[in-house]
Amino acid sequence: MFTPQAIGFIRTPYKETSAIPKGLGAKHDAEGVLELLPEFEAGLKDVEGFSHLFVLWVFDRSEGFDLVGAPPVDDQPHGVFATRSPRRPNPIGLTVVELLRRERGSLFVRGVDMLEGTPILDIKPYMSSIPAEKLRRGWLAEAEALRR
Ligand SMILES: C[S@@+](CC[C@H](N)C(=O)[O-])C[C@H]1O[C@@H](n2cnc3c(N)ncnc32)[C@H](O)[C@@H]1O
Repeated sequence: MFTPQAIGFIRTPYKETSAIPKGLGAKHDAEGVLELLPEFEAGLKDVEGFSHLFVLWVFDRSEGFDLVGAPPVDDQPHGVFATRSPRRPNPIGLTVVELLRRERGSLFVRGVDMLEGTPILDIKPYMSSIPAEKLRRGWLAEAEALRR
């Protein structure tokens, strides 16, 4: 395989996990900054043209994993690969953020849901061509319907 290497770190307003909005309907509109290490800054050329980005990052303050568990938004257990749990065999997070502006190696973004200082593994332009009517939300849709 390969040894993952941080390309930078994320500045967010969240010092502890309890401060991050959770649960059904949680809004992630907090702003943060993706700060790339100087040796990776050249890789941001032309990123400004994209409104949204995928950010791949490390759950660096999570230990171990559960293959099956009940997420905070449901009392039913689900497989880890059917959830966004931080306790995963490979502790990799994925967040879509809105790109507000770039200043050299810093991307100012909206929509962060990770702790301050979280390591960044990769950044890619967000593109989705899946029509809304083709998307299924599995157990989450059922949990949302029950809460209504
Ligand atoms: C449910 S996960 C979803 C993260 C991402 N959007 C995803 O789908 O991979 C978000 C939670 O991960 C936890 N978290 C955030 N940053 C973390 C970090 N650096 N290390 C460990 N846990 C973290 C917090 O409890 C936060 O509410």
